[in-house]
Amino acid sequence: MAIGHASDEPGFSRRSFLARVGATGGAGAMFATMGALGLAPSAEAATKTPFQPPRPSDFSLRGRGAAKVVVLGAGIAGLTAAYELGKAGYNVTILEAQDRVGGRNRTLRGGDKLTEIGGATQHIGFSKGQYMNAGPARIAQWMTTMDYCRELGVPLEVFTNSNADAYIYNESAGMTAPVRWRTAKADVYGYISELLAKATDQGALDQRLTATDKERLISFLTSFGAIRGRADGFAYRGTDGRRGYSVNPGAGHTSGTVLGPVPSLSEVLASGVGLRFSFEFGYSQAMLMFQPVGGMDQIPRALAQAIGHGKIRTGSKVTKITNLARGVRVEYQKNGRTSVLEADYCIATLPPHILAKIPHNLGANVQAALATPVPESTGKIGLEYRRRWWEEDEGIYGGITNTDLDLSTIWYPSSGYGSGGRGVVIGYYNFGGNADRYAAMTHADRLRRALDQGAKIHGEKYRQGVASSASIAWTRQPHIEGGWIGWPSRGAEYALLNEPQGNVYFSGDWLSYEIAWQHGAFESARKVVTELHQRVLKG
Ligand code: ALA
Repeated sequence: MAIGHASDEPGFSRRSFLARVGATGGAGAMFATMGALGLAPSAEAATKTPFQPPRPSDFSLRGRGAAKVVVLGAGIAGLTAAYELGKAGYNVTILEAQDRVGGRNRTLRGGDKLTEIGGATQHIGFSKGQYMNAGPARIAQWMTTMDYCRELGVPLEVFTNSNADAYIYNESAGMTAPVRWRTAKADVYGYISELLAKATDQGALDQRLTATDKERLISFLTSFGAIRGRADGFAYRGTDGRRGYSVNPGAGHTSGTVLGPVPSLSEVLASGVGLRFSFEFGYSQAMLMFQPVGGMDQIPRALAQAIGHGKIRTGSKVTKITNLARGVRVEYQKNGRTSVLEADYCIATLPPHILAKIPHNLGANVQAALATPVPESTGKIGLEYRRRWWEEDEGIYGGITNTDLDLSTIWYPSSGYGSGGRGVVIGYYNFGGNADRYAAMTHADRLRRALDQGAKIHGEKYRQGVASSASIAWTRQPHIEGGWIGWPSRGAEYALLNEPQGNVYFSGDWLSYEIAWQHGAFESARKVVTELHQRVLKG
């Protein structure tokens, strides 16, 4: 009997059908069937936005040829647009103001020079093989970024976004020492389970739960929170090894000593550690996550290679955009000289607040729309240590410590595990006011403050053994001037810039629903490439 017919037959309800499936096939079969009927989540991945790259053969029956396109910006959106159009033979030129490709996708290595607006320049001194991803640094499995890594042959490794052995430290809640994620979770899950089991058992939820539901819920909570049974009042005692150990289990009679003392329920609530957990559920943040082996800039490098370096004009700052009746005209400055490039179409991928400073003839509405998104502040410091003390002394192999200090987060490297060599710790990755505060400092002051703050978590050794460091303040990066942008609302301005304005298209993560992720830039580039190609084919 076809499942599709079952619920259509009179007298044969979905419920009775599912009950029969459940009776014969068990709960697993019932859930699978519910999935097929659209009643329960199925195991399939979410649908990706379909994308068909332009092909040379698309033109063969239409008597048209590929057009000439000028792309503004060699960040991920610009490179991707050029790469995809190039597949069908479009004549593409990229104008990039910087002397490098990648935009915010930037990996800092020894020998690099990092100049800020205002003139401060860092000469990066990381030793060979050491690097920091100054911009994007993690990729979720569902993201289109993964597909481009596969297509371009960029090897990936796991990026450890959460680690039970990293710390949480909320100084403002009165914590005097950091707590491991695993310990914080054991206590929060334990006490919440105790409370809910008690309330359930005492009938507080009888309006909502059947007797069977109650037993099942209590059974779940017993396992989830590692709480005692009914006779012990479902108490959370923290004696389960999930808190961690002060003496690890070992040989013979060394059974291990569970970490203590266990804080009270009230202390756990006051510490605020539970407020940190939700990030692990985020669609873009949940493990597993990935990073390219050797640095995030392997992605733009591979894209530039595939496009052909001859098509990318670096050091070329756009100074004027003119939409013409047929085509576009772009003026740019290179080595102090003004040049002009004419093309059939333009794809502008610069940040909107940068585009808003460039004269154009696209009208007041476009200008107002470009000026609407608000640049947001973010920054990082990379600390190269001579010794991987976080691994050797503290047993932390990758992952992130979360704090309410102005450093916000500390990241341990997700490569070179156990090498016994050097490693680059991200000593702060912060946002908003915290990022502004560090941005306003010299690099030497950023370093000093980052070490002072980090020592609250890792102790004095945090100040020692730093071989070199580099810091980035994205609001102070020339031609970029922000970590990403925020739309006050995705209203008429967002809609306007998502449509071509004459022969000018806009693209970037800022025109997507995944702002501040390369995924958003890849998806936006694909959208614009599709629209432009369809227009060219129609003539
Ligand atoms: N995509 C940025 C991050 O991973 C916001 O932190």
